[in-house]
Amino acid sequence: MTHGLNRIRALVVMIALAVACLPAMTGPAGAQEAGAQAVNPTAMSVQADDLLQQEGKLQGYLAQPDPKLAVLEQPQGRQWRVFHESWLPWGAGILILAVVLLLGGVYLVKGPIQADEVSGIKILRFNVFERFTHWLTAVSFIILALSGINYIFGKRYLMPLIGPDAFGTLSQWGKYAHNYLAWPFMLGVLFMIVVWVKDNFPKRGVDWAWLKAGGGVFNNTHPSAGRFNAGQKLIFWWVALAGIVMSVTGIMLLFPFAAFGVNGMQITQVVHSVVGFLFIAVIIFHIYIGTLGMEGAYDAMGSGEVDVAWARAHHDLWVEEQLRR
Ligand code: HEM
Repeated sequence: MTHGLNRIRALVVMIALAVACLPAMTGPAGAQEAGAQAVNPTAMSVQADDLLQQEGKLQGYLAQPDPKLAVLEQPQGRQWRVFHESWLPWGAGILILAVVLLLGGVYLVKGPIQADEVSGIKILRFNVFERFTHWLTAVSFIILALSGINYIFGKRYLMPLIGPDAFGTLSQWGKYAHNYLAWPFMLGVLFMIVVWVKDNFPKRGVDWAWLKAGGGVFNNTHPSAGRFNAGQKLIFWWVALAGIVMSVTGIMLLFPFAAFGVNGMQITQVVHSVVGFLFIAVIIFHIYIGTLGMEGAYDAMGSGEVDVAWARAHHDLWVEEQLRR
């Protein structure tokens, strides 16, 4: 009797196992077909193409806690690569070469702006803190600019010249320099804004006249100017605004994905590199004026003192104000 019951139990278990294994035995296609009859697989979901068109990316949910890994397809990445590998090096290369050639041509054709007369009497133009601020910003900017240029052009032009080993070591140090000198640069920009903003607000009747006269460069005159002329004010505001943009985007790049996803990081990199190269072009022009382009200008940031005759010629309203004080 017990024997018979055991046989019936064994038969029931075998039938149950066979039913459970049926989909597996018919293979995946068989399983899908069976499933297709039960539910419509597209009813509750979105077509990948529609989603790509609508969102510009394909993003899903993963058990992985890192949300950027959930971006499965991102066509903007291809546009970004074209920008990074083609538009950026060409655009930046042409811009920098054009500025250097233009200034070289102006120097060869016109020569430096002459210091008309020398009085032998000095006047303090920038105090120690102003000069410290300027050189802190300038030195860190120049190293940031060179290491930034290496990011874009180094592999193409420097590596074939010095070999991969030397280029690797140089680029590694360049990367450290870029990461760490960003901080003194940001501090320098902040100090510059604090110490010079009061002298850089536009002045009615003075700045526009200076700009209309082209700074007197073409007819060798000296239009009136306060502590900073209109050209210098433009440089100041550029340094302040572009400095802030470079700082914010730079911090985003230093701490990747802290605030943005993949798209946001690409846009951040585009803004950082475009503004960076425009900044370099503006500063090449600034360095030219402060050294080769204008006699007597460098002293203002070197020793801090300039000849009174030079100051009267270039910043007459400022000299009057200083003397009144
Ligand atoms: C070797 C590099 C540089 C040299 C030789 C240089 C030279 C000078 C000189 C001579 C002045 C005083 C002009 C005057 O007396 O009115 C000056 C001012 C100034 N510099 Fe520089 N500079 C250099 C780099 C930089 C950099 C990298 C920045 C910013 C990123 C900068 C920002 C400024 C600003 C905002 C002023 C005040 C406005 C102006 O004069 O245009 N400089 N610089």
